[in-house]
Amino acid sequence: MGSTSKMKVLESLAPLLIACLGILGCTQAVTLEVKEGNSTCIKAELSALLFITYTTFNSTSNVSTSLPDSTSVDAASSSCGAAGRPPWLVAVFGSGHALGLSFATNGSFYSVTNLTLQYNLSDTSLFPQSNGSGVVTVVSSSVGIWAPINTTYRCASPTTIRAGGAAVTFSAMRLEAYMPGNDLSPAESVCTADQTTTTAPPTTTTTAAPAPTPPGTPETGVFSVTNSSGTVCLLAKMGLQLNVSYVSQSQNKTVQELVNVNPNLTVTSGSCGGTTASLVLTQQTTTLNFTFSMNSTTSKYHLSGINLLANWSDMTAPFSASNTSLDYLRSMLGRSYMCNTEQTLLVVPAFSLNTFRLQVQPFGLTASQFAAAEECQLDQDQMLIPIIVGAALAGLVLIILIAYLIGRKRSHAGYQTI
Ligand SMILES: *[C@@H]1O[C@H](CO)[C@@H](O)[C@H](O)[C@H]1NC(C)=O
Ligand SMILES: *[C@@H]1O[C@H](CO)[C@@H](O)[C@H](O)[C@H]1NC(C)=O
Ligand SMILES: *[C@@H]1O[C@H](CO)[C@@H](O)[C@H](O)[C@H]1NC(C)=O
Ligand SMILES: *[C@@H]1O[C@H](CO)[C@@H](O)[C@H](O)[C@H]1NC(C)=O
Ligand SMILES: *[C@@H]1O[C@H](CO)[C@@H](O)[C@H](O)[C@H]1NC(C)=O
Ligand SMILES: *[C@@H]1O[C@H](CO)[C@@H](O)[C@H](O)[C@H]1NC(C)=O
Ligand SMILES: *[C@@H]1O[C@H](CO)[C@@H](O)[C@H](O)[C@H]1NC(C)=O
Ligand SMILES: *[C@@H]1O[C@H](CO)[C@@H](O)[C@H](O)[C@H]1NC(C)=O
Ligand SMILES: *[C@@H]1O[C@H](CO)[C@@H](O)[C@H](O)[C@H]1NC(C)=O
Ligand SMILES: *[C@@H]1O[C@H](CO)[C@@H](O)[C@H](O)[C@H]1NC(C)=O
Ligand SMILES: *[C@@H]1O[C@H](CO)[C@@H](O)[C@H](O)[C@H]1NC(C)=O
Ligand SMILES: *[C@@H]1O[C@H](CO)[C@@H](O)[C@H](O)[C@H]1NC(C)=O
Repeated sequence: MGSTSKMKVLESLAPLLIACLGILGCTQAVTLEVKEGNSTCIKAELSALLFITYTTFNSTSNVSTSLPDSTSVDAASSSCGAAGRPPWLVAVFGSGHALGLSFATNGSFYSVTNLTLQYNLSDTSLFPQSNGSGVVTVVSSSVGIWAPINTTYRCASPTTIRAGGAAVTFSAMRLEAYMPGNDLSPAESVCTADQTTTTAPPTTTTTAAPAPTPPGTPETGVFSVTNSSGTVCLLAKMGLQLNVSYVSQSQNKTVQELVNVNPNLTVTSGSCGGTTASLVLTQQTTTLNFTFSMNSTTSKYHLSGINLLANWSDMTAPFSASNTSLDYLRSMLGRSYMCNTEQTLLVVPAFSLNTFRLQVQPFGLTASQFAAAEECQLDQDQMLIPIIVGAALAGLVLIILIAYLIGRKRSHAGYQTI
């Protein structure tokens, strides 16, 4: 029990740490180079956060650590790809821990073929109370890092790679293998997560700034969070629009901007727990964090917190807004919450969130499917309109019918008198 709640705390901290990595760049960036003779073949600049689950005498524990400043390249294991070995970058840190990236090329593109994480359970400072000892090696061969030859792969957004009971989250990454020179190529290949910030209308620099065109209704995205056993534990389907007021650099005044979240460019992360769950959506320099809370006494849940971090190009300073005492999207355990009608969730005076065609379930998900939905009042009102109109029409028809019947009876009577 104690360690599961500890795990939850760590899991809920992970998005914060990731957000911190992506937005504030608060973790150390390390520079790693693999050389052969005096030419460099692999170079990487990156920050990495490691999240490892291990067994203790009693149960399981989690540890989260970032790649320290002292990380260095293990020249003996690393290779530039001679003698039939693939190019391999092996970084070592602490007491017998290592992170390896192995590369391959097909002539026009290069890619990371596998990521190897090696951790030493005997290191009690990192793994207190571990029941195992010695070195554990986990490998992931679906890394998804690739770029054309002679270009630098660049990805500022956090990217998480899972391997065994561990996860590695890279951020602020610049990397190249099969390098033509001794430094990273100036030509960059930007990862999908970083491409085109937002659908924000381009800000014009002319003095008579025309009113920005509204972005229209946002596209509906499906966002899910999986737990450590790989099952979906939080599911959300919604279109999101940010309404942010900030001081514009180009216009030197406070502007209000509507920005749609583009699901295609959004990286989803988050965590699930018994009483809190979080959903973190990252779109380049924008991170939106939802916190859901469950009252275990009443088995009811609600959206209790929204946090936005944004660093858009025209902002004089990065925008940060947070409210942890919200009470939106109320539903109960075993049900999802649905609101097809547009809803405005006020977070702080300078930031509100408009939701469209929303359905969300942060707790008690089974088989990756939404449970029966609790529908919002707005939807119920919307449904009442056709009912009222229908009832009014039916009433009208009835009145006309009665009037007709009475009229017919009267005229019949009239004919008979003639
Ligand atoms: C915000 O973006 C600007 C320009 O891209 C960058 O110079 C600055 O460091 C960023 N600030 C933070 C806190 O990430
Ligand atoms: C690189 O190696 C070449 C020959 O192996 C040598 O002549 C040259 O001085 C070296 N350059 C540096 C910067 O060490
Ligand atoms: C097992 O867990 C209990 C309570 O969580 C703790 O008091 C005890 O010391 C643990 N035993 C070992 C061997 O770690
Ligand atoms: C693992 O850690 C222990 C304790 O810090 C250390 O004695 C041992 O040498 C480490 N193993 C490796 C392979 O470095
Ligand atoms: C990962 O890459 C390394 C270096 O290329 C290689 O030795 C190892 O066998 C690879 N592991 C897997 C599972 O492919
Ligand atoms: C190399 O790999 C890339 C990406 O997988 C692919 O698009 C490209 O067609 C491949 N090129 C060759 C020559 O096989
Ligand atoms: C550690 O604990 C797990 C689960 O309790 C058990 O399966 C495993 O055999 C233990 N390992 C050692 C080295 O005691
Ligand atoms: C990469 O650059 C090197 C040196 O500039 C050049 O010889 C090579 O043909 C280039 N490769 C590709 C695929 O463009
Ligand atoms: C955006 O917020 C402002 C107040 O902060 C409000 O006046 C405006 O109507 C909102 N726009 C939309 C489309 O929600
Ligand atoms: C921005 O506006 C303030 C007053 O609104 C003024 O004092 C300041 O000089 C302006 N800055 C620029 C760069 O125009
Ligand atoms: C997202 O991707 C889908 C399919 O790839 C495409 O139809 C849609 O237009 C894209 N939406 C945006 C906003 O880019
Ligand atoms: C749960 O709900 C009950 C009844 O509304 C309330 O008294 C209690 O304070 C709530 N607990 C939490 C942790 O919010």
